Amino acid sequence: MSEHFFRTLAWQAARRYPARERFARHFAYGKLTIDPVFAHLLARGLIPAQARVLDLGSGQGILSALLLAAHERHRSGDWPEAWPAPPKLRGMRGIELMHKDVERARHAGDAATSFVCGDIRSTDFGAADVVVILDVLHYIDYAAQQDVLRRVRDALGAGGVLILRVGDESGSLRFRITVAVDRAIMRLRGHRLARLHCKPLEQWKRELTQLGFHVEVVPMSAGTPFANALLAARLAPRPSLLP
Ligand SMILES: C[S@@+](CC[C@H](N)C(=O)[O-])C[C@H]1O[C@@H](n2cnc3c(N)ncnc32)[C@H](O)[C@@H]1O
Repeated sequence: MSEHFFRTLAWQAARRYPARERFARHFAYGKLTIDPVFAHLLARGLIPAQARVLDLGSGQGILSALLLAAHERHRSGDWPEAWPAPPKLRGMRGIELMHKDVERARHAGDAATSFVCGDIRSTDFGAADVVVILDVLHYIDYAAQQDVLRRVRDALGAGGVLILRVGDESGSLRFRITVAVDRAIMRLRGHRLARLHCKPLEQWKRELTQLGFHVEVVPMSAGTPFANALLAARLAPRPSLLP
């Protein structure tokens, strides 16, 4: 997909936020075009058609806005041949702490999307085929991270996929920049942050493997100064009963 095409798609997604919400529109456009994770999810077809998606710490619903814009664009016949068709979802649910962001996500959504204001440490996950957690788990403590991941596994069941983006903790300059920018943006968005609970990538991978996930890791910082990685963690499909 050309950079130009993705920029026009990002703007289409950003326009799902009302014009009076200038901050939300520009934030969505900026994030979609600067952060490589969103184009990657579409290019790799990581979210299958007809999936029930659960977005934990969904913020203002940027992923949902992008998937809806992508589906519209594909339906209009304007979609690059090299990319898989964007998924038409069975449903998309988001759980987000910040009321203002939940409102924004609802505005940018459609009838198949729903966003609740809640804490992922206590809100029921229901059942899902794909769980997405982008840049969220380091806000909750280590024991809570383990508990959320266990509950994600149970919500997914056989064949489910967790798409998790984390910062790779180390002494590197990239990691220090990741944390500094994270703190600045969260403050700008009205959060009061205590400490962050980051971990090295290898530890995230090990903990997911112990929960029964098969994990693939892709660096996810291209074009940015950050130390981010995307983990696509899959549970084994249910064994076939056929011989
Ligand atoms: C860096 S933002 C990422 C938002 C979104 N995942 C995205 O990629 O656009 C992290 C989000 O996680 C939310 N969050 C942090 N802790 C949370 C919790 N315990 N329960 C629900 N949401 C939480 C924050 O309010 C914030 O919107």
